[in-house]
Amino acid sequence: MIGRLNHVAIAVPDLKAAAEQYRGALGAEVGAPQDEPDHGVTVIFITLPNTKIELLCPLGKDSPINGFLEKNPSGGIHHICYEVDDILAARDHLKGTGARVLGSAEPRIGAHGKPVLFLHPKDFNGCLVELEQV
Ligand code: CO
Repeated sequence: MIGRLNHVAIAVPDLKAAAEQYRGALGAEVGAPQDEPDHGVTVIFITLPNTKIELLCPLGKDSPINGFLEKNPSGGIHHICYEVDDILAARDHLKGTGARVLGSAEPRIGAHGKPVLFLHPKDFNGCLVELEQV
């Protein structure tokens, strides 16, 4: 059911420093920062030949990644995002297997302007999983 790896998201305490490291030390193609107020984060996408890296930092006091950065002050892998063709069919299939969908379980528009959902990390080997309909 899942398709390509769309991105790996890394929560970072300093977005500018992380972007500069990917641009300078790693020589990657680094995009511009985008505020995502609906998700409480500012993101920068890094385009690699086979996938993307999403650098995330908190936007606002109630950011859902504040707790993650408190536990991981130097940053860390926050989630991975798999592509699906039909997000509602994927959601219903996963719910049928007992997987928990976070929030209202209704897809929201993610950083690429496409519908996304998140699956509970405890149901996926400790890894927060994002599904994006492409
Ligand atoms: Co993501």
